[in-house]
This record gives sequence, structure tokens and C-alpha cells, in this order.
Amino acid sequence: MGLRHAGAPVVMTGSTTALSPSRRGLHVITWGCQMNVYDSARMSDVLRPLGYQSVDAPEAADMIILNTCHIRDKAAEKVFSELGRLRKIKEARKEEGAQTIIAVAGCVAQAEGQEILTRAPYVDIVLGPQTYHRLPEMVARAARAGGAVIDTDFPAEQKFDFLPDAAAPQTPGNYTAFLTIQEGCDKFCSFCVVPYTRGAESSRSVTSVLAEARRMAESGVKEISLLGQNVNAYHGEGPDGTVWGLAQLANALATIPGLSRLRYTTSHPRDMDDALINAHRDLPALMPFLHLPVQSGSDRILRAMNRGHTADEYRDIVRRLRDARPDLALSSDFIVGHPGETDEDFEATMQLVRDVTFAQAYSFKYSPRPGTPAAGAPLQVPEDVKDARLQALQALLRQQQDAFNAALVGQTIPVLFTGEGRKPGQIAGRSPWLQPVHVSGPRHLIGQELPVRITERLTNSLGGTLVEETVYA
Ligand code: 5AD
Ligand code: SF4
Repeated sequence: MGLRHAGAPVVMTGSTTALSPSRRGLHVITWGCQMNVYDSARMSDVLRPLGYQSVDAPEAADMIILNTCHIRDKAAEKVFSELGRLRKIKEARKEEGAQTIIAVAGCVAQAEGQEILTRAPYVDIVLGPQTYHRLPEMVARAARAGGAVIDTDFPAEQKFDFLPDAAAPQTPGNYTAFLTIQEGCDKFCSFCVVPYTRGAESSRSVTSVLAEARRMAESGVKEISLLGQNVNAYHGEGPDGTVWGLAQLANALATIPGLSRLRYTTSHPRDMDDALINAHRDLPALMPFLHLPVQSGSDRILRAMNRGHTADEYRDIVRRLRDARPDLALSSDFIVGHPGETDEDFEATMQLVRDVTFAQAYSFKYSPRPGTPAAGAPLQVPEDVKDARLQALQALLRQQQDAFNAALVGQTIPVLFTGEGRKPGQIAGRSPWLQPVHVSGPRHLIGQELPVRITERLTNSLGGTLVEETVYA
């Protein structure tokens, strides 16, 4: 499974700074999963020594990076339409005598590199997710040659070994952070492009992960979300030369002073081993919220998808997880309308949802990705059938999400406050289950984890009051 792929683009920008003449403006547009958000931050890191600083407006940028996502439909078209917009900015700046480097990064760049240079010749750099540590060299080459540079290798060197100190992006005031520990996927689900765009599974060493986590904690980060396309397939080299799994890594991370919350995403049911399930029992820092994509509840379709487990095996994993950590809530990904999916198969998915109950989930209509096995499979499901199934599934999932949120009203739960709320006098944070929570409270509580009594359920968040208010006043 991949990571979160929200439809709306995430636009990452830093604060606009008045740039001194030696400084250059960098504008990064990030689409897709948290892995891309992390990669964008690292690309900014490697460019910082070259004088690049984040700017909010693309019009003020000497370099614009479009970090793309290829997981679902029309990814390439979306990229070309955005590039059309960036081209206009580049041309307007050129008239004023300013040069603008346009780089396309991420999974669309990996999959369609040559096509991008052909259709959008004003693009200067195309780089895949495995080569962003080489970005400074590419920028130099692009500036020198004036021609386009393409680098979509799967290089032998590990990009993480070539990245600058990752403490740099942890600006004070960030209480939550992402940390990529694993990349790529060898699972080859029938529908998915990730094995082709992100390459084979590889894990960072334990030493480098722990060092980055320590730096994050020292800069004030309280909650770390470990990232990987197949994060629970993590198998990093341990300091003792043995291979460590995710459970062992989580145990070590939990000892870092100041880190009170750990999460990991995204996991595959096949890699949910006993050690990891036990870690949910033994480590209070491991948050009781797990994104565990199942995709379908039908054994026939799970087989066709090459998922490597049955619906009952998924139910069993969930049961063992909940035995280990009774307050654990689940999130998942579903695909409706995979080739060959019958009404009966779809009903099996609905039944699995009823049996497991999810606090939150993402569901998609199957969309063929060129080059993947399912794209050429017979028995493609008609669009109107996919629509009807998606509606039915989403209605059920929404009901479960509402029920989960409603059940929290009246309870007291720990909230990690991360910033100001929407209304004046409010502060906001997140629950153990990742719901946003708003309370009335003073700003100096931001950065602390405090008990909150939940009083109301809003559309996409919870409202509450600080417990023992007088103590914090
Ligand atoms: N069609 C629809 N959904 C897909 N996903 C991945 N590939 C496809 C596709 N071809 C979904 C899966 C995955 C999530 C990140 O995106 O549910 O878990
Ligand atoms: Fe996830 Fe399967 Fe895609 Fe791998 S191939 S990223 S396991 S959906």
C-alpha cells in the first residue's frame, strides 16, 4: 500500500523571507502521500547550501519543484496542466530578466520522465524519488548546459547516506514530524504502480534512524510518524550487525527522552508479525491507531490482487492487535471494482467492514494504471457499477467513523497540542487517533500533551475542555 493520497494537493511552502541578493527563492509544490511531503523537505535541505530559501509565491522563485504522485488516475494530465501554469510564470519572469528552473520530481517523473521533457520542453530537471540527493549536481548541470537534465535511476548508492543533517528542517515549534525509514515495495499488488516507481524495498540503518529521531526530539518534536511504502516490512541493519524489524526499532525509539508518541504508516497485513503486535501491548508510546489497508474483503479478489492473505487472516490480525491494545482503532484503504469483482465479492468487502469496524478509511474506485497486471486483465467492471459500490461502501465507512467519534464525547483523552486553534483564544492538537481537537486555552500549553474532556463532535474535529484547567491557567 502506499501512503495517504488525498485528492487535494498539499502545497508546502516556507515563510516568505526577504531574499538577499545571494539568496535564491525555492517554491516546492507537493502532491500525494506523506512520503512526498518528507521528500520535499529533504529536497529543500539539499538545496539550502546552494542558497535556496523557501518562498510562498512561485512568482518569486528561482526554482520551482513539482513533486508528483502517480498512484491513481489522470496523474500525468494533472502534471501537464500544472506545468502549463508554471510555464507562464517562467516566461513572465524571463521578461523581467530572471531565470527560473522548473524541476519535476516524484513518481510521475519516474514513470514518465522522457514524455515530460518531450511535452514540456521548458522543464529543466526531471528526477525520480531515488535521486533527490543528486539535485545540487542536477541544478548545476541545468544552469551550465541550459538543457534539460533527467535522472530517474535507481542508483546503487543509498540516497539517505548522501543527505545533509536532517535536523535542519526541524524548526522549533514543530511538535510532530515525519521520518522515512523504509522505501519501495516488492509486493506487486496487481493494481499498483509503486513497485515500478519507487523500486525494491530498502530500509535505512537503525543508527541513522535513531540519530535523526534524537535530533528531532532535541528540537522539541514529541510525536514521530515513521514512514514507508511498506513500513512494517522494515529490516534495517542494527548497530550490532543483525537485521532489526520494526518492533525492535520502535522499542529503541520509545526510549528517546521527549518522544512520547510514535506512529508508523503504511503497513501491509502480511508483515504484521507477533513482535510488532506485542509492541502495541508493551509500548505506551505506540499510538493506538493503525492504518492497515485491506483493499477487499473477498478472498477471490484478494488473490487476484496478489495481496498474499485472506479476509479471515486480516480479521485474525485485527483480533490479535485488539487483544494486545484494546483501545486500538483501525484505518484502511479499499478498492472497489477491481477487475473480476462481482456483487458477491463486493458484499464480502461490506461484511468485512461490518465485522472489523474502522475509525476512518480511504476508498477508491479501481483505476487502471498502465503497465500494471490488472490494467490488462479481462472483466473490467463498468464505471456505473464502481460508482454504486463506492457510494455504498463510503456510506457504511462514514457511519462507522461518526460512531467512533461520537463515542469519544464525554471521555477524557490525551491531546498533544500543536498550534493555535481556528478561533481566537483556542489551541488545537491531535488525539491518539489523529482527530484534530480544539479547546479554549492559553498559547503556552502548545507543545504539551494534556488530558482533555471531549464535549462535542464537529464535522472534521472534536471540541473539548482542558481538565484541571486551574492548574494550567
Ligand atoms: N486504483 C485505485 N486505487 C488504487 N490505489 C493504489 N492503486 C490504485 C489503483 N490503480 C489505492 C490503494 C492504496 C492507496 C494508497 O491507493 O488502496 O492502498
Ligand atoms: Fe502497497 Fe501493494 Fe502498492 Fe506495494 S504494491 S505499495 S503493498 S498497494
